[in-house]
Amino acid sequence: MNSINRRSVLAGLGAVGTGLLAACGNEAPGAPSLLSPSGSQVARAARSRSGTGRVQSLNLTAAPATLDLGGGVLAKSWAFGGRVPGKEIRTSAGDTLSAELSNQLPGTTATSIHWHGISLRGDMDGVPPVTQPPVRAGSNFTYRFVTNAPGTYFLHPHVGVQVDRGLYAPLIVEDPREPLSYDDEWVVVLDDWLDGVTGTPDEVFATFRPDMSGMTMRNSGPERARPSRSSPASSGDSDSTRFRLIGATSPLLGGDAGDVNYPYHLVNGRVPADPAVYTGKSGKRVRLRIINAGADTAYRVALGGHKLTVTHTDGFPVVHRQVDTLLIAMGERYDVLVTLGDGVFPLVALAEGKDATGMAVVRTGSGSTPEPTVRPAELDGSTVTAAQLRAAEGVQLQAKDPDLVHRVKLTGSMGRYDWAINGREFDMADPTANPLLVQEGQRVRLDFVNATNMWHPMHLHGHTYQLDDGGPRKDTTIVLPRSKVSVFFDADNPGQWMLHCHNAYHSEAGMMALLAYGA
Ligand code: C2O
Ligand code: CU
Repeated sequence: MNSINRRSVLAGLGAVGTGLLAACGNEAPGAPSLLSPSGSQVARAARSRSGTGRVQSLNLTAAPATLDLGGGVLAKSWAFGGRVPGKEIRTSAGDTLSAELSNQLPGTTATSIHWHGISLRGDMDGVPPVTQPPVRAGSNFTYRFVTNAPGTYFLHPHVGVQVDRGLYAPLIVEDPREPLSYDDEWVVVLDDWLDGVTGTPDEVFATFRPDMSGMTMRNSGPERARPSRSSPASSGDSDSTRFRLIGATSPLLGGDAGDVNYPYHLVNGRVPADPAVYTGKSGKRVRLRIINAGADTAYRVALGGHKLTVTHTDGFPVVHRQVDTLLIAMGERYDVLVTLGDGVFPLVALAEGKDATGMAVVRTGSGSTPEPTVRPAELDGSTVTAAQLRAAEGVQLQAKDPDLVHRVKLTGSMGRYDWAINGREFDMADPTANPLLVQEGQRVRLDFVNATNMWHPMHLHGHTYQLDDGGPRKDTTIVLPRSKVSVFFDADNPGQWMLHCHNAYHSEAGMMALLAYGA
């Protein structure tokens, strides 16, 4: 059964025109007038992006698939093109990507594609109903935009908790004037996996928020009752022990590490018992592009016997730093250089605080495959947090006082699962209700103030902000419990953009806001 939550249901039904309409100035008196994501200002901004004029066209079919995760593990899930991760997409900076999404998902499941980290034109961002109508089952939608900034990105749906299915793929924008020198590249995608093994992401969400699941009824007419916590749609104790992880803690994450119990942690779609293998030559320099596509797990990553030289985070270059291990939150990306040793080495992704690992293997010589449970010593070695990194010179934003400061207070608790921003649970049925307003041209500072007892990776669409005090350019940043992180950006991409925790279950519960340009 697909237990459907409130937001996916809305996207699947007719209520969705409203977001787009509201954006065109249809609000209650006194409400701010917002710039429409499909209006002339977005089109103007898009025209001003210089592109190469080259177009890369491809098709992405979202459909049910039985995925072979290795080691005899088969998972019935949803994926692009029947594989996980989906086939890597590569463009060169300035090229236009023209990607036709075909929705072959079951029943009335609507979907979309969000191009995570890409600063693209506002009507291509893939957030129904804000930036486009949902792509209904059986229909198609073509995304077409200039991929202007080189870097490591990925794509996933922006409907309900579909991001915790197999619907993701790496998107690499190459730099035609690449300043780094290296011999080869390896894209490494990390993911926490349960779909089709212990249940579905919708069932997981229903155990956390039984009141929000099965909202089909609430939204299809007054004669149907709102499901109660004891209705069959909500799950009993067995589900909550199956899906919930109690007591996952991590000093690096300031306490509670995650809420969801995953039977597997995948590296490039494989379980550790039957890992993905990168074969290379000893002495060669390899650029690893590491992407955390997980929903509720931060990974501590290390390559046994190697140091990692951090060169980029979230697509943008940083002053190089050498470390043994890196902590990567959901939605974050790190590029590192390694000089390969001679032998066979485990690339291990430790599910931070969850006492479980994913693994892939680097092979340059003979030797047996590492044990699936191996934990290289580097996992406990030196590391660096994003706040300790520095933006590379070419990508630093100019020093300037902010024209506007938004305080973005992260609120809620694990017990009630009432994750929110500024005390408001975001509602996709009424996305423009309480926007964080900005005006084009403003220098904006966001102060993330974490008033909860849990960490949250905060992601902004359409922009790559900079961490305060010369920090790196990023689009997803870990905000530890009871702490504050300030980021700033120039409001140079008109539209309506989501700002949310990249924990799929937190954002679905409501830790999300709309950052909207005023008309
Ligand atoms: Cu990776 Cu709003 O998403
Ligand atoms: Cu969160």
